[in-house]
Amino acid sequence: MTQDVFEIVGGTPLRGEIRVQGAKNSVLPVLAATILCRGVSEIENTPCLSDVDTAGDILAGLGCAVRRDGSVLYVDSSGLSACEIPDHLMRKMRSSVFFLGAILGTAGECTLTYPGGCELGPRPIDIHLSALQQLGVRITEAGGKLHADARRLHGAAVSLPFPSVGATENVLLAACAAPEDTWIINAAREPEIVDLAKFLSLSGAEIRGAGTPLVEIRGGKTLHPARMRIMPDRIAAATWLCAVAATGGDLFVREGVEAHLQPVVQGLRRAGCAVTADSAGLFISAPGRLRGGQMFTTAPYPGFPTDAQAILMAAMCCAEGVSVFVENIFESRFRHVCELARMGAKIRTEGKCAAVCGVPKLKGASVCAGDLRGGAALTVAALAAEGKSVITDIFHIDRGYENVVQSLNEIGANVRRISRDAGNCE
Ligand code: UD1
Repeated sequence: MTQDVFEIVGGTPLRGEIRVQGAKNSVLPVLAATILCRGVSEIENTPCLSDVDTAGDILAGLGCAVRRDGSVLYVDSSGLSACEIPDHLMRKMRSSVFFLGAILGTAGECTLTYPGGCELGPRPIDIHLSALQQLGVRITEAGGKLHADARRLHGAAVSLPFPSVGATENVLLAACAAPEDTWIINAAREPEIVDLAKFLSLSGAEIRGAGTPLVEIRGGKTLHPARMRIMPDRIAAATWLCAVAATGGDLFVREGVEAHLQPVVQGLRRAGCAVTADSAGLFISAPGRLRGGQMFTTAPYPGFPTDAQAILMAAMCCAEGVSVFVENIFESRFRHVCELARMGAKIRTEGKCAAVCGVPKLKGASVCAGDLRGGAALTVAALAAEGKSVITDIFHIDRGYENVVQSLNEIGANVRRISRDAGNCE
């Protein structure tokens, strides 16, 4: 785990063009899906992220051969021989849990432990497990390990109590291997679900309704390898839009898709930014100072994304007036608030609400990234702040953002990555 830090001298408006990387939350379940398609799958637009490396380690541990050539990842799953995911890889990221549905679909059984990932409060997998049980999977737990047996895997109408993104993806993956048809009722509608369904369909699956609350998966299909380009990362796009909103300036966000980002773009427009879209991407022009006065409530897609909450909050720290954020998806997703306060932000939290009272300027400070999107929020705030900031624990940011230093410096920022031997949060 890197102990590197970011040193950012802020206060410069961002200008020019930035390209949006491939989506982390799409590529990880697609990489899990490659093991259902024995042979060599080719995944284009795969971002260089530590989470992708972790997925590669899981695949390699299962017996797959993984090779990168530029932005294309080649996964050869023909040597798949194991069905256990080691605990140290499960702990590294939440997305390791997608491998469960895929391994069950191909190997008929799977042993794993509970997944880790960002510390956002309790992140149970009960919805995943009960949905898989509805498909006939038997799950037992002993010595901290979960064992899932899918020898009696069958199609079913699986109703989710909450449109969980991860559970929808796990059911999609396992259901592709069932002999009968499956319906997912109250499925998550995120664009990353559509991307996973696209990969599975290119591999020979028959899936209808991905992106709606009712998804239908035809059973009894044999999958084959496929080549697919991963969709652009909507949260990375939101991050660059918010960075410009915070610093001022004009930026073309190449491959940003407005349809994936409606509530964020709408919020930025109401705050005074001009945002226009065409088929190549999004263009944003930010005013001298943003307007506050809005309430942002996180909700499943197409609602305001929980992953953009901290990032937009960082931009609104200097807006005129009060902005309110309500976090409905995760319990502990305000860890960035006390770090933003070190930079001079005035934020009060109570339960799931945070009220941001805009200040004229943020000041550079030493801050610590507590999770991936919280770390991105601190980067946005540091870009806007007067003077120098140092962000520690940036391994969180490396999980989800590719080549941050170079990308930001190309649009006028002053960011350096400095290697440190030690340096933890206090
Ligand atoms: C969530 C986000 C997703 C985001 C990802 C990474 C939502 C709906 N999902 O996906 O957009 O990209 O985090 O930050 O915004 N839950 C359970 N039991 C389960 C599964 C989930 O109680 O088995 C709860 C979670 O604790 C959470 C909520 O349901 O409160 C959302 O979960 P889910 O969509 O599954 O989370 P992720 O797949 O991690």
